[in-house]
Amino acid sequence: AAEDGLNAWLRYARLPPDIAKQATVPLNIVALNTTETSPVYVAGQELQKGIKGILDRSLNITHEASEGSSVVVGTIAAFNNSGISIGTPELEQDGFWLSIKGDTVEIVGQNERGALYGAFEYLSMLAQANFTEVAYATNPSAAIRWINQWDNMDGTIERGYAGPSIFFKGNAPVSNVTRVAEYARLLASIRVNGIVINNVNANAQILSDANMAGIARIADAMRPWGVKVGISLNFASPQTFGGLNTFDPLDKSVIAWWTKITDKLYQHVPDLAGFLVKANSEGQPGPLTYGRTLSDGANLFAKAAKPHGGIVMFRAFVYDNQHLNERNWKDDRANAAVDFFRGLDEKFDDNVVVQVKYGPIDFQVREPPSPLFAHLKQTASAIELQVTQEYLGQQCHLVYLPPLWKTILDFDLRVDGEKSVIGTDILSGKRFNKKGLTGYAAVVNVGQNATWLGSHLAMSNLYGYGRLAWDPTVNEVEILEDWTRLTFGLDDTVRETITRMSMESWPAYENYTGNLGIQTLTDITGPHYGPNPQSMDNNAWGQWTRADAFSIGMDRTVKNGTGFAGQYPTEVAAVFEEIETTPDDLLLWFHHVPYTHVLKNGKTVIQHFYDAHYAGAETAATFPTQWAKLEGLIDKQRFDETAFRLTYQAGHAIVWRDSINQFYNSLSGIADAHDRVNNH
Ligand code: GCU
Repeated sequence: AAEDGLNAWLRYARLPPDIAKQATVPLNIVALNTTETSPVYVAGQELQKGIKGILDRSLNITHEASEGSSVVVGTIAAFNNSGISIGTPELEQDGFWLSIKGDTVEIVGQNERGALYGAFEYLSMLAQANFTEVAYATNPSAAIRWINQWDNMDGTIERGYAGPSIFFKGNAPVSNVTRVAEYARLLASIRVNGIVINNVNANAQILSDANMAGIARIADAMRPWGVKVGISLNFASPQTFGGLNTFDPLDKSVIAWWTKITDKLYQHVPDLAGFLVKANSEGQPGPLTYGRTLSDGANLFAKAAKPHGGIVMFRAFVYDNQHLNERNWKDDRANAAVDFFRGLDEKFDDNVVVQVKYGPIDFQVREPPSPLFAHLKQTASAIELQVTQEYLGQQCHLVYLPPLWKTILDFDLRVDGEKSVIGTDILSGKRFNKKGLTGYAAVVNVGQNATWLGSHLAMSNLYGYGRLAWDPTVNEVEILEDWTRLTFGLDDTVRETITRMSMESWPAYENYTGNLGIQTLTDITGPHYGPNPQSMDNNAWGQWTRADAFSIGMDRTVKNGTGFAGQYPTEVAAVFEEIETTPDDLLLWFHHVPYTHVLKNGKTVIQHFYDAHYAGAETAATFPTQWAKLEGLIDKQRFDETAFRLTYQAGHAIVWRDSINQFYNSLSGIADAHDRVNNH
C-alpha cells in the first residue's frame, strides 16, 4: 500500500508471532516531558506506535518516573530530576545512551533530540528482531547533519524527481504541513538535525512577511522531531526585494537591511538554524559583483545571525561559467573552489561553515575529493552530498550511493604529512580542532510522490546518508542490510537480493555511463539525463573530456596541464601528478592519454571503454531477473513498481552502452577487439 512508501524504513511491520514472542517487552512507556511538542514526548508516542506495530502490544504512556517494567526516555537532566540513577554516560550534543536489560529500557539523551534518536534506535532493533541486551553511549561524528531541498516557491523542485514540493505551493509555503511533519519524522530517525527548505538558486520573495509566517509554520511542524529549519538567501535581495540601490555587502544600508530582516526572521522562528548561500556561481549575484571577497559576503550574514545563534552555510561551489574556454589548455573549472577560497581561510567569522561539494566539479559518478578540504584549516567545513540522483540516473536507475561517498569520506588527504581522513578527521572537526561546527549536508529533493524520492529502492541512499553523517566508519553493507530489513522485512532472500543488486549498482552505472574518471557522459546543457558524450566538450560549463580522434582526458598535472593536481597536499599531489601512480579509475580525470594507452589492468583505454560498457549493461540486465525472485516475498505494489524501474534501467543501460561505444568508436576509428561495436 501507499503507506509502505510513505513510512519507508519506519513501517513497524508486525513480526511473525514465533519471533515476536522471544521479545522481553516492558509494560509501560515513561516519557520524561509533558510538553506535547517536545521530542521526548514525541518519542513516547513513537515507542507506543512502534511496539504496537512490531509486537502487537499496547503500552500506556506516563510522564512520571516509575519503578519496574518500563521503557524510560528522557534527557540526562530529566533522568536526574526524576531520581532514576543512570550513572553518568559520556554524551555530546545530540548523543544518547541506550540500555536494554530484561524488561527495563533506559534511553537517555544528552538533549531532547538525542533522547528521540535513542527511541528510534530501540525501535529499529525491535523491528529487525534484534532482542539483545545492550548498554552503550553513541555520539555524532559531527554537529551539522543537514538536508538541502532545492524547492522553488512555485512548487517545482530543481533536480527533483518525485513530484511537486511538499514545502511550497503557489509561491508560498504550504498551509497543510502533514507531509512536512512526516518527512521530519523520517529525518529524525536517521538523526538529521537541520534542513534548508528552499532552492540554493533562491527567490528573494521568501523574505516577505507572509512567507516568514509560512516558514514558521514549517518550523513548528518539524521542531517536535528535533529538525531545525534554515533558508537559502539570494545575495541581491536588498536590491531586488528591499528596494535599495545596491547589495554591496560592505554598504551600511545593506548591512542594516540584512540585520533587520534577520531579526524579523528570528521573531518568526526563534530557533532558525541559519542560512545557506550560493553566491557568484552560475549567474547568481554575490560579493564579487562589487569587488568584495567571498568572506565579506559570508560574514555579512554571519554577523546578522550571530546574536540569534544562527550559522551560515556558505557554498564553495563558486565558478564562472561565462569565461571558461576549452581552447585554453590550462583552463579548468576544477580549480575554481581552491582558487576562490585560497587566502580567505582566516577571514571567515566563526559561525560560517564553508559547504563543499564532495568533488571539484559537480556530483559526477566518480571524482577525486575536493582539495578544498585540505585548505580550510581555520574555517569550519561541511561536505555536500547528493541523494537526489542528478547525474546518477534520476531515481530511474538503481544506484546505491554510500560506496561512492565512502571513496571520499575514507580518503586521507595527508595535510602537512599527517593523517587527515576526510570523514573521521576533517569533517569531525578533530584534525583542525574545529569540533562543534562541521559536518554534512545532502541535497535530497523529496517530493509529493508516495515513495518520497520517486523510487522505493532510492530510499536506501537517504537512510545511508543519515547513518554515515552520524558515523562515517559504518559499513555500507551493514547500512543496506538494516535498511532492507526495516523496509522489506526479515526474509533472507529479500535481504540478500537487494543487498547484492545495490552493491553492484554503482560500479555498473559507472561502467555504462563514464569510466576511468571521465565523468558521467550525459547531456551537460540539458537535464543531465541519458548519454550525450558529444556535449561534454565545447561547452561553457567547463565539464570537459578533451576527446579528439587520438586521445582523451583532462591533463590536470602541474608539469603540463591545468595544475589542479597541485592543489592537493604534497603526498597526494605526487600520486595524481604521475600516470604511473594514478589509479585507473581516475586516470582520465588527471591525464590526457592516447586511446591506445595501456592501463594497469592490461587493456587499452578504448578497449576498456568497450568492455566496461558491456559489463555494466550486463549487470543491469540481471536486475529484473534478480528482482523477479522476490515476487510474493514482498507486497505486490512495491514489487511491481520496482520491477518496472529495473526493467527500464536494463534497457536504458543498453542505450548508454551503445551510444558511448559508438561515439568513441567513430571518433577514434579503433575497432573493438571483440567485434561488438560497429562503425557503420
Ligand atoms: C548543479 C545543478 C544545478 C544546481 C547547481 C548547484 O550545477 O545542475 O541545478 O543549481 O549544481 O549546486 O548550485
